[in-house]
Amino acid sequence: MIISSINISGFRNIDHSEFFFHSNKNLIHGLNGAGKTSILEAIFLLSFGKSFICKKKSEMVNRNVNQFFIRANITQEHLSNTISSSYSNRLHLFLDEKKSGLLEINRYFYTVLFSSSDYNLYIESKPYTRKMIDRFVFGVDSLYINHLLSYNSALRQKNCLLKLNRTIHELRSWNRTISALCRRIIDIKMRFIDQLNNEIRNKFAVNLDIRYNPSIKTDQNLSDDLIFSLLEDHSPLEIKFRRSLIGPHLDGFEIFLNDHPLRFYSSGEKKFHLLLIYIAFIELFKKLKKDYPVFLLDDFDTAIDSRNIEILTGYYPKMQIIATSVNRYDSFNRLIELHKEK
Ligand SMILES: Nc1ncnc2c1ncn2[C@@H]1O[C@H](COP(=O)(O)OP(=O)(O)OP(=O)(O)O)[C@@H](O)[C@H]1O
Ligand SMILES: [Mg+2]
Repeated sequence: MIISSINISGFRNIDHSEFFFHSNKNLIHGLNGAGKTSILEAIFLLSFGKSFICKKKSEMVNRNVNQFFIRANITQEHLSNTISSSYSNRLHLFLDEKKSGLLEINRYFYTVLFSSSDYNLYIESKPYTRKMIDRFVFGVDSLYINHLLSYNSALRQKNCLLKLNRTIHELRSWNRTISALCRRIIDIKMRFIDQLNNEIRNKFAVNLDIRYNPSIKTDQNLSDDLIFSLLEDHSPLEIKFRRSLIGPHLDGFEIFLNDHPLRFYSSGEKKFHLLLIYIAFIELFKKLKKDYPVFLLDDFDTAIDSRNIEILTGYYPKMQIIATSVNRYDSFNRLIELHKEK
């Protein structure tokens, strides 16, 4: 999939502008505060209905107006669609002018975002790494989000009971429901991590892998009954602490380089190797979905040395990437220079 153009009005510092993209490598460059990240944020918003920077949508509206409008032309093989978003009090998404939802939009438009401002968190913070893997899995397995939503809702109910100091007997029926959902979620994550590690191994000559550390551990083959009995074993402790203590919401993932955790390496090494993981995911996405997502790379060159920049810019074969930087690189197919308004 390719975003060929985007029209943005009343969004962040962008009054009204239109940008045209190449189907391969695009670089948006310009001074600090020129609006580079804002363009990526607008593109991301069309594919996920939210920002990657802030929770409050009203913060994205230009300070001089009270609504924003974004519209993009997307092409997929020979199909062409428009995806747009409007915000004034509420955000709406439209596919070809009809109100639409994320699941439908993601069939036409899916972005993968890599931001240089928080990549460390995706390596060092357990909840962030889990969030990154979850977002990857959503991209390639649309059922996953349904399992996760059902699981989260059952977990909320169970935690409510635990807060109310209920008995083991009362928890049992929730553990039953949860155990079946747990197994599906764990199976999907295990399969995904295997596929992603294979992709990394096949693509790059580095000893880099992600290790999945499920919160529910067992040497035996996972089954609903086995998970149920493990959940039941934890009930007395859960009642004592008044919250759920095991389950996929507490799963861990750790990235290893040469069998050492990546979090112990230098900033540049961390960023470069995390980018390799993103590229491997994009290749896996292409294999499973028969199309590339659009890769958004904010401040792609910060903390990366020139040798690794060359490796990165020389890569990205057929997919569309939209990168930003304060620097100009002529190896991109299209350069979009932003000027900062005084
Ligand atoms: N709601 C808003 N209304 C108007 N301007 C805003 C709004 N939100 C942010 N800005 C401003 O928009 C400008 C562009 O921000 P953006 O983060 O896109 O810049 P950038 O080009 O990515 O800069 P850098 O190189 O520092 O990353 C900033 O000056 C910011 O203060
Ligand atoms: Mg920026």
